[in-house]
Amino acid sequence: MPLNELIHSIPKAELHLHIEGTLEPKLMLEFAKRTGMSMGMSAEELKRAYRFKDLQDFLNIYYKGTDTLRTHEDFYDLTMHYLQKAKENNVVHAEIFYDPQAHIRRGIKFETFTEGIISAMKNARRNLEISSNLILSFLRDLPEENAIRVLDEATSYIHEIKAVGLDSAELGNPPSKFSKAFEIAKDMGLLRVAHAGEEGPPSYIWEAIEILNVERIDHGVKAIEDPNLMKLLAKERIPLTMCPLSNKKLNVIPDLKNYPVREFLKRGIMATINSDDPAYFGGYVNENYTAIQRALNLTPEEICTLASNSILASFIPEERKREILEKIKGPCEKHGVQSFNLSLDSRA
Ligand code: ADE
Ligand code: ZN
Repeated sequence: MPLNELIHSIPKAELHLHIEGTLEPKLMLEFAKRTGMSMGMSAEELKRAYRFKDLQDFLNIYYKGTDTLRTHEDFYDLTMHYLQKAKENNVVHAEIFYDPQAHIRRGIKFETFTEGIISAMKNARRNLEISSNLILSFLRDLPEENAIRVLDEATSYIHEIKAVGLDSAELGNPPSKFSKAFEIAKDMGLLRVAHAGEEGPPSYIWEAIEILNVERIDHGVKAIEDPNLMKLLAKERIPLTMCPLSNKKLNVIPDLKNYPVREFLKRGIMATINSDDPAYFGGYVNENYTAIQRALNLTPEEICTLASNSILASFIPEERKREILEKIKGPCEKHGVQSFNLSLDSRA
């Protein structure tokens, strides 16, 4: 049974979203025009070219897209555009990754992009009633010293940044490469997350947990290959921020019918559904819920658990968590779901 109405009506959090990955072709062309760049393609041609062999193939295009972002206004408009989309998807809280190194290496100042993003987040809090947290993500294919320099630049914005993350080309760049940077981040009072087990093996997930001390794993699909790791994720309540359309588009899995999210939920793992880079992968968060619901014939109870997991796994204060969880009950009860996990833990 398709459950589009339920999916749309549940308030949810999005916990795995790269702001640079929300750059829709139309917006990209507008920003390119502002700076006098030419992309040499129409918006339709750009969309049609979005066929990726793997993560690296995608990243090559993704970084080319970021070249069109230059001014405070570009970053503000990009973030506002995403937050409006989030509103349409009934997202009430978003945790937003950004990639400072991708901009610093093009000569853009840390304050230009950071302030552009933050002012849109503040506007959305006031005018769209969407709360959000910012996650500064390190590019793992660059040296660790480079990441540490970025942390230094972030010092004056420390109260605006909630956590650090780790993204970009995974294979050959294990979490252990960033042990020092993550330790410094922890000492600065920042929470920690890392992409692991997207293309990389389960051992990268173990490293992220044991060496980087992460609060959440981004993707984590490859955990399905390691029963002991699944036991640990369930026991320690370490959430996975999963992104079905991304994993399909980047050939992490051959078919959504093989997606392990039901298996994870059955084992008590706190899985969540997110969009990753919606402008490139064919859908925002509701489209991710819909695609995976159809592929696996997920039940209303499973959808409600995924949505409540997104709130429980977020970095928002308990009081706001409680307030949102209360609002999830209505749509779920309407679909006959009486009991699912609404219990708070103490991770925020
Ligand atoms: N940067 C943007 N999207 C990413 C993804 N899916 N994996 C790793 N790095 C990324
Ligand atoms: Zn990602």
